[in-house]
Amino acid sequence: MKRILVTGGLGFIGSHVVVELQNSGFDVVIIDDVSNSKIEVLDQITEITNIKPDFHQLDLREKKAVHNFFNENVIEGVIHFAAFKAVGESVLKPLDYYENNINALVYLLQEIKSRNIDYFIFSSSCTVYGQADELPITEEAPIKPAESPYGNTKQIGEEIIRDSCKAYNMNAIALRYFNPVGAHKSVKIGELPLGVPQNLIPFITQTAAGIREELSVFGDDYSTPDGTAIRDYIHVVDLAKAHVKALQRLLNKQNEENFEFFNVGTGKGSSVMEIIKSFEKVTQQSLNYKITDRRDGDITAAYADTTKANEVLRWEPQETLEEALLSAWKWQQKQK
Ligand code: UD1
Repeated sequence: MKRILVTGGLGFIGSHVVVELQNSGFDVVIIDDVSNSKIEVLDQITEITNIKPDFHQLDLREKKAVHNFFNENVIEGVIHFAAFKAVGESVLKPLDYYENNINALVYLLQEIKSRNIDYFIFSSSCTVYGQADELPITEEAPIKPAESPYGNTKQIGEEIIRDSCKAYNMNAIALRYFNPVGAHKSVKIGELPLGVPQNLIPFITQTAAGIREELSVFGDDYSTPDGTAIRDYIHVVDLAKAHVKALQRLLNKQNEENFEFFNVGTGKGSSVMEIIKSFEKVTQQSLNYKITDRRDGDITAAYADTTKANEVLRWEPQETLEEALLSAWKWQQKQK
């Protein structure tokens, strides 16, 4: 059984990936510093799969600790999620973002290189494309200057991996996520935002639950059919399954280049207003919202061309947007 390290494995995306890896027969080890997650997630994962993942509470910025971990654990592949991800915060605290998102990546890659670990999957983002000139966005779309330090860490991260793959003959895949939403059907794991949610779906579910008074729709003067911004919302379980496919591609040595990257989205764009309407329909909740100014740094529209992931990874999303929204709402209702 292949032993795979998942960093940030207690987080929103990481925890769903751990479940899918275990379901696919991988032996999973989690590293998480529990700074933006809860330790209870470990038990929740165990309840879903009946397998308790090996867990190490560790801060990847601690180079020596990372080295010791790899000395003590035989790892065959790494999926790296652990990172800061709040766009606005990254503008205020760029050095924290560079330290956490870049240093940790470098320390991991150093261990991977020196131990000849051959499989590395990086959690990247469609943010690397900025406002693409053409929609849907293919992997050929140019990388635009990053809008935020957070976005820059994803761009730099990909560059560091590309250079490392070339120099050391390592193999890696970067998955460029569009907007992951929803929760596992067991309703045992989901998104756990700390404080006021920055992202649309948790803000919507918290508003419906009465935790937030009102959702602000950031701008209705975009050049879109209803004036609100368009994104590609993908069910987190579908996204998680893409990681298993990517890992299997590397394990089976099917990759055509040392460093490959794939868009992971549904290929369908939805506007903020469409999301509100769908949410209201599937959950039978009516949502308080108001139109406000645009949010700084937001782009008009982003949705994926998923042809490469469909054909090369043989991955396709299975869940609908409605299922994703309903699962997010069920998850919200379970939170105290
Ligand atoms: C962005 C990045 C993504 C990154 C994520 C991290 C892009 C295309 N995407 O996602 O790569 O991982 O940040 O947080 O750059 N909205 C409201 N009201 C709210 C919250 C959001 O109207 O209270 C709107 C936003 O203006 C946007 C949409 O909802 O149009 C989605 O916003 P959000 O969930 O924050 O994700 P992105 O900004 O698309």
